[in-house]
Parts: sequence; C-alpha cells; structure tokens
Amino acid sequence: MRPKGLPIYLCAMFNQRTKIKTLLDGEANNQEVTVMGWVRTFRNNQFIALNDGSTNTNLQVVAELGSFDDEFLKRVTTSAALKVRGILVPSLGKGQKMELKATAIEILGDSDPEKYPLQPKKHSLEFLREIAHLRFRTNTFGSVFRVRHALAYAIHKFYNERGFLYIHTPIITGSDAEGAGEMFRVSTLPFDNPPRNEDGSINYKEDFFGRNTNLTVSGQLEGELAATAFGEIYTFGPTFRAENSNTSRHLAEFWMIEPEMAFYDIEDNMNLAESFIKYLIAYVMEHNREDLEFLAQRQADEEKQLPQDKRSDMGLIEKLEFVLKNDFERITYTEAIDILLQSPAYKKKKFQYDVSWGIDMQSEHERYLVEKHFKKPVIVRNYPKHIKAFYMRQNDDGKTVAAMDILAPGIGEIVGGSQREERMDKLVERMKEMHIPTDELWWYLDTRRFGTVPHSGFGLGFERMVQFVTGMGNIRDVIPFPRTPKTAEF
Ligand code: 4AD
Ligand code: MG
Repeated sequence: MRPKGLPIYLCAMFNQRTKIKTLLDGEANNQEVTVMGWVRTFRNNQFIALNDGSTNTNLQVVAELGSFDDEFLKRVTTSAALKVRGILVPSLGKGQKMELKATAIEILGDSDPEKYPLQPKKHSLEFLREIAHLRFRTNTFGSVFRVRHALAYAIHKFYNERGFLYIHTPIITGSDAEGAGEMFRVSTLPFDNPPRNEDGSINYKEDFFGRNTNLTVSGQLEGELAATAFGEIYTFGPTFRAENSNTSRHLAEFWMIEPEMAFYDIEDNMNLAESFIKYLIAYVMEHNREDLEFLAQRQADEEKQLPQDKRSDMGLIEKLEFVLKNDFERITYTEAIDILLQSPAYKKKKFQYDVSWGIDMQSEHERYLVEKHFKKPVIVRNYPKHIKAFYMRQNDDGKTVAAMDILAPGIGEIVGGSQREERMDKLVERMKEMHIPTDELWWYLDTRRFGTVPHSGFGLGFERMVQFVTGMGNIRDVIPFPRTPKTAEF
C-alpha cells in the first residue's frame, strides 16, 4: 500500500535504486543507496566493478573481507546481475572518486563464467557482431547506443523547436518512392503455389491488400502530402532497401529522417540541412562528452595500427568541433567533376571508376572531394537529371535537376535531397520518360493539381549520422541488430 502523500515512484520498493551515473556525478557523503547492475569484474574477492549501462564508468562496490560468505561470493561472476545496498564513501584507492561499501548484496541473476562469451578483455568488433545480443554490455557499444539515443532525441527537439510536425508515414506501401526498384515485397500469398491470372502472372488481387505491396524505401512522397498542408513536417522511421550492397555504409533496414517543407527552395533546403547536422553534433558534444571522449580514444587506438596515410587528420572530437565551426563547402556537380578531372588522383589513374560529366559519382570520388580536396563536408547540387529521381525539380539548362547531396568525411553521402518539381506538366513529362506509373501515383499528383507550391526536402541517413558522430567505421556497429545481405540474426 502507498503511504499517504508519498509519490507513487517512491513506493515501488524493488526499483528504488540510484543510477550509477547519478551517483558518480554527485558527491559521496556516507549516504545509504541501492544500486543494481551487472558485474564487469570481481577482484581480490573484494572489489566488484558494477555497471548499469548509465555510463561506462563502473561503480566500485566493496565487499569487505569476512563480511560475506565465501560460497556466496563465488556467485559474483562477470555479468551476474546484482542488487547492492551500501554506504557511498569517498574512495581511498586510485582510479575512482567514490566507492560503495556494501551492507547487503543480492544476486538477481547468476551468470556462468564458463559459458559467458564476453571476457573482460578487448574483443574484435567482428566477434561482437556475432554476439550482438550481448554487445550492449561492452564499453564501446554502451557509448555508441547512448550517443544514438541522444541523436534521436535531438532530432525531435530540433524540429519541434522549429514548429515542424512529426508525421508517421506508412511502412507498407504500394509505391516505389525512389523509383529504383530495390524493394522488399510484402505478401501473404503462398510462395509455392500463388494464385495466377490467365496469362500465368501472379494475381495480386488475391493478396492481403488486394494489390502488390512493399516495405517503404522512403516516406518522402507521403511527407510531401503533409507538407502541402502543414508547411513543415518531418518523418523519422525505418526504411528498407533490397540493394545488394555489402559495404560499411549500407544496410537493408535503416532509419531515415526526412523533413519536407513547403515554400522552401534548394537554398533554404541546404541551409536547413546544414544547421540540422550542426545542431545534432552540438547537442551530443554538450550532453555526451564522456562517451565521445571514450569513442575518440577508441578510434585513436584503432588507428595506431594503420599506416600513417590511412589515419584521420583529426581526432574525433577535433573533427566534430571543426565541422561545427566551419561552413560546409557548396559546389555544383559540374564543379565537382572538374575538380576530380584536375586531381592528381585522376591523373595518376588512382580511381577505380572513370570520371566524366554524367557519372553517378562513386564513393571513391566523393571521398576524394571531402577528405583530400576540401577536407570538410561538401554540399553538391545540380546533378544530371538522368541519375536522379523523377520528383526533382528540373533546372532551366534542361540537363540538371535541383538536387543536393551532403558528403561527409569518412562517410560519403550522408544527406540526399532536392527541390521538388511543383509544375504538373514538367513532372508528368518526367514520370513518363522514366516509366513511373502516373495513374498509380494519382494521389501524389493531386498536390500539384490543388494549390501546388515550391517545396523541398531531404533525407538524412540516421546510421550514417551516428557513424559520423561516433567515428565507428562500419554501419553494422551503430544499429543494434543490423540487416544486411545474408544476415538477419537476432
Ligand atoms: O539519397 P536517398 O536515397 O534519398 C531518399 O530516399 C529521398 N527520398 C530523401 C528525401 O529527399 N526525402 O537516401 C537518403 C539518405 C542517404 O543520403 C543516406 O544517408 C541514407 O539515406 N541511405 C542509407 N543509409 C544506410 N543504408 C542504405 N542502404 C542507405 N541508402 C540511403
Ligand atoms: Mg542519394
């Protein structure tokens, strides 16, 4: 029962615990506290390093010699879950400012040290991917996922502060927003014996939705519908691409933030994207300093094994500060191609893929521009229309569209966006040229029919942003359970 006047959270006796981060941020004044967490190490039958996921810094719990039964202490093994009550005192030992003198220890869950796969030593990221269900319990992934959380929060904060509406666009859709045909089919028809039409083709009228459906590749088209009523909206949700790209920057399931704004031209769009990225970096720099410092050290240690020319020019925090302080470089696609053609890399035939006006730049080209030439994020705009999606606004030159990509050091493309084609005739003409079915997208075209306006938007790949901020080299290490070709474990 709840004593009169006590707030309900103080009555939940089991969960009356203090998080380790809260303790470590404060002072040790001989106060009595309860903590719960998992054992990282136990040394000298006396010192327990306890971690509860709130910080990488463990709390030193002291089980004074003779106070606890030896048989009981044998159960204090790496990863066992404990509830500890004790007195928080300033620590005499080196390495921590306080420690918890245990008065009572309860084992909430045992962990067999013979079978627990994580040892208190350095494991490779590849090995940890195979035990992704346990890697949350390591310092690296502790930091990565706390930063990922902070970024997700900051995204909502950024748009909320600017009056954008968060719109939930559908996950299951009948349309291919990007027109690239890289979709996962959603169906309840039997694989081995689907109903067929007279001509032998599959009869999707019999399918769950009475039509062919897929997992969405982008919420943009639906986002445009909302933007042409609310003015400024954003989506933040999972998107799916069945592209067979086995790289350190591609996932088959990734999260994307897609703002869409009425009354914005391509310049406004670029300005929003740049300030958005800087806001996210500033937020994490302010709120996740400890994790960033840990990740910076991790990256520095990892790079020590690389040859000099493969190491980053700047440490992680230095890089983030640099990005905050400097304007992104803004160039046209045509200028980008000229820079590549003039580059020593091109002249010495260092690029694997050829360069000429009209190519879809490969990652080696993008990385040359940001890492070697400009040494900072670059916004490239006005791409050739034949390599971009049907909805992008056609420029007067007849060759290019008002597209813009942001390229980031170490990542390559982090944002893709454009001003949208608001002119009905031009849009329909382009759709026909690209074999995009205008009848299926009747609802999309209605926005151009009824009060069309200049509007723009972009997509930020969430995991690529997390990679950029954490310095993690592989995108599989910034999402809890990555989906990539031939892997969908957990
Ligand atoms: O450039 P993309 O394909 O653009 C769109 O989807 C537009 N509808 C966005 C818009 O204008 N509203 O994707 C946008 C971003 C890329 O810049 C990249 O950061 C990320 O999404 N991205 C991926 N991230 C991880 N794995 C993949 N397979 C990705 N494909 C794109
Ligand atoms: Mg793109």
